Amino acid sequence: PYITARTNVLCVIGHPIEHSMSPIMHNAALKDLSLDYVYVAFNIPLNDLKKAVLGFKMFNIKGINVTIPYKENIIPYLDEIDPLAEKIGAVNTIKNEGKYLIGKNTDASGAKKALLDAGCELTGKKALILGAGGAAKAVSFAISEDLDALYIANRTEKRAIKLAKDLTNKTNIKAVGKKMSINTLKNLINDVDILINTTPLGMYPDI
Ligand SMILES: NC(=O)c1ccc[n+]([C@@H]2O[C@H](COP(=O)([O-])OP(=O)(O)OC[C@H]3O[C@@H](n4cnc5c(N)ncnc54)[C@H](OP(=O)(O)O)[C@@H]3O)[C@@H](O)[C@H]2O)c1
Repeated sequence: PYITARTNVLCVIGHPIEHSMSPIMHNAALKDLSLDYVYVAFNIPLNDLKKAVLGFKMFNIKGINVTIPYKENIIPYLDEIDPLAEKIGAVNTIKNEGKYLIGKNTDASGAKKALLDAGCELTGKKALILGAGGAAKAVSFAISEDLDALYIANRTEKRAIKLAKDLTNKTNIKAVGKKMSINTLKNLINDVDILINTTPLGMYPDI
C-alpha cells in the first residue's frame, strides 16, 4: 500500500527517540492488517511539549504513543485521562477523537493482558515486583485489585515504599515495599506465586 493524501498518521513522541523500535513494530502490524495508516517518530525538545500537543490536533494525528520523558508531564495538556492512567499518574497512549485527546496507559493494560494470555491466574495470588519505576507502577496498578498480596522490591528502598504506599492508598491492596537484596528475594520467593521483573536487567545488549 502507498501513502496517499488520505493516509492516517500515528506517532510516538519522546526525547531522545531515535532508538525507538515502535515505528518498525507498528508499521509492520499496520501493513499486516492492511490499514491505511503510517507510524512515525518525533523527537520533541524539552520545552516544546505544549506546542507538540497542539500539533497533534492541528495535523489530525490519530494516535500518539508517549515515551520517556513525557509520560507524566503530558497529562495537563490532555482533554481527558482514563481512570487507570489517572491512578498510575502516567500516559503512554493518546487517542485523538476529533481534536479531543484522551490519555490511556496501555503499559498497564498490556502487561495484564500478557499475563492473562499466558494463562497466569491473578485472583487471590501473591506477587513480587522487582523495580519501582514507570513500568513497575503501571503493572502494579493494573494487577493489584486482583491480587491477595503484593510486594515491591527495589534497589532504592524508598521508591519501593513510596509505590507501595501509593498502591495501598489508591487501590484495595495493602502493598509492601522492600529493599531489593538477596535476603529479601530468598525470603519472598517461596511465598509468592508470581514474579515480575520490571528493571532493565537482563535486557542488555538488546535494550
Ligand atoms: N510496554 C513495554 O514493554 C514497556 C513499557 C515501559 C518500560 N519498559 C521497559 O521496562 C524497563 C523499565 O522501564 P521503566 O520505565 O520502569 O524505567 P525506570 O522508571 O527508569 O525504572 C527502572 C527501575 O529499574 C531499577 N534498576 C535499574 N537498573 C538497575 C540495576 N542495575 N539493578 C537493580 N535495579 C535496577 C530501578 O531501580 P532504582 O529505583 O534503584 O533506580 C527502577 O526501579 C525498561 O527496560 C523499559 O524498556 C517496557
